[in-house]
Amino acid sequence: MKTATILFLVFISYGFAYSQAVAPSIRLEKNGNTARLMIDQQPFLILGGELGNSSASSVAYMKPYWQRLREMNLNTVIMPVYWELIEPEENRYNFSLVDSLLDEAVRHDLKVVLLWFGTWKNSMSCYTPAWMKTNPRRFPRTADSAGRSQEIFSVFGKETLAADMKAFATLMRHIKVWDVSGRTVILVQVENEIGMLPTARERSRIADALYKEKIPEPLAGYLKKNKDRIVPELRKRWDANGGKVDGTWEEVFGKGIETEEIFQAWYYARYAGEVAAAGKKEYALPMYVNAALPRPGVLPGRYPSAGPLPHLSDIWQAAAPAIDVLSPDFYNPDTRYWCDLYVRNGNPLFIPEMQFDRSAAIKVFLAIGHYKAFGFSPFSIESPSDASLSLASSYALLSQLSPLITGQKWLAMDGFFLDHKNRSDTVRMGNYIIVVSHYNILPWAAGRRDSVWSATGGMIIQTGEDEFYVAGTGFAATFSNTDQGKVANILRSEEVAIAGGREVMGRRMNGDQDHQGRHIRFATDEWGIQKVTLYNSPKEIER
Ligand code: DGJ
Repeated sequence: MKTATILFLVFISYGFAYSQAVAPSIRLEKNGNTARLMIDQQPFLILGGELGNSSASSVAYMKPYWQRLREMNLNTVIMPVYWELIEPEENRYNFSLVDSLLDEAVRHDLKVVLLWFGTWKNSMSCYTPAWMKTNPRRFPRTADSAGRSQEIFSVFGKETLAADMKAFATLMRHIKVWDVSGRTVILVQVENEIGMLPTARERSRIADALYKEKIPEPLAGYLKKNKDRIVPELRKRWDANGGKVDGTWEEVFGKGIETEEIFQAWYYARYAGEVAAAGKKEYALPMYVNAALPRPGVLPGRYPSAGPLPHLSDIWQAAAPAIDVLSPDFYNPDTRYWCDLYVRNGNPLFIPEMQFDRSAAIKVFLAIGHYKAFGFSPFSIESPSDASLSLASSYALLSQLSPLITGQKWLAMDGFFLDHKNRSDTVRMGNYIIVVSHYNILPWAAGRRDSVWSATGGMIIQTGEDEFYVAGTGFAATFSNTDQGKVANILRSEEVAIAGGREVMGRRMNGDQDHQGRHIRFATDEWGIQKVTLYNSPKEIER
């Protein structure tokens, strides 16, 4: 081959490799109601923790905590960026704080999810810069029903939106340059727990006028196109009013504060969607929004309304295509109830906040195993908590299992959560029915008579017809065959540690450790993974 040809080929392949290396390659690979976060074509399971609200405002304050986050086996820290600190004067940006914190994350081998504390944080506009707060003519605020001004910026403030889009786009441009080869920042939250208070919608002149107008064309188009997949809560209101796509908000969705909430949700979502799109134009990382979940039976206006809540998911998806995921924040015990509502209409589960207690350290198995969440994160992760050790233990198992989980070569996967109310759960996998029960149901369990049973649980991954990885803490799993004529038995179970694609076997679990072949178990406060092989025998013995 001629030298010129060789040089040309080297140039082409180097150019190709270079473009592969620098192309922004962090994306969500969606599949139905699940997704994998892909970093340079490799799936990444977020085992995260979100910092307390004010912690990321001081490098010195954070100093002692980085090591602690590693010790809890986190692979990702979820960290706010405050608008008031990056743009203290209009159009003058300062990213030195953000950069220093990102440097620390890199030093501690942590990925980062950034939270954009922009126009709204828990409904309020407390993180907007002073030059905005003190200029209500330019950046209009909402008022309560008595007309009292609130520190909540109106969604209809055109200059507010323009300023937010500009600041967020500038942040994303900065991150793109900062993170050119590191892939440290992997996901971004736009605003924080958007929600209208204390009324279901804004009451300004412009809001009243828009409320009387016809629903926007894109919403009408969405309703027409997605008629059969609209969530039942919205569908019911829509059907009850004749399933129209042409008409005012009340003509289409009926009278009432529920419709006022739908209206407000449309404008909130459009706003957040435009902010996200402006950021993505600079650096197209996956983006999500989070919601404060209402208590049961509370009416719109009494809870932060119109946020990315399940009954409004169609509105958010229609108005904000640049938002990839709608996420729940958990400060209530109804995990299954809300997760079921979030994994609909192609929305995968990512839990950015959960109260940091022992149950969160267990619910991570439910979120990842059952709901196939691509990430999980207790809130205020750096605060001292009795649950730190439990979380560290759960994350240690999950980081070992992560390649198996995200590799998706399994036949079935499920996760479960047990306590004194939920004493057992049943999982069906292939030819097997698996009953998992809280450790305290065992006759010899020390905690059997306690009035409250500590949360336990885990996950099971089926990797072959008769092969399972059983992981977690504080439960016993028994196996039966779906074929009534067969008895399922344990052929072999081994403790296993997984690292770098290799499995290192520990104890062979037999005798007392598997109740002489009757079950697989982990005592309360014992965390582990066992690789289990079953065999079947005929139920009736030949005589
Ligand atoms: C939910 C919010 O998203 C967090 O920022 C924080 O305020 C917690 N609630 C409660 O502390």
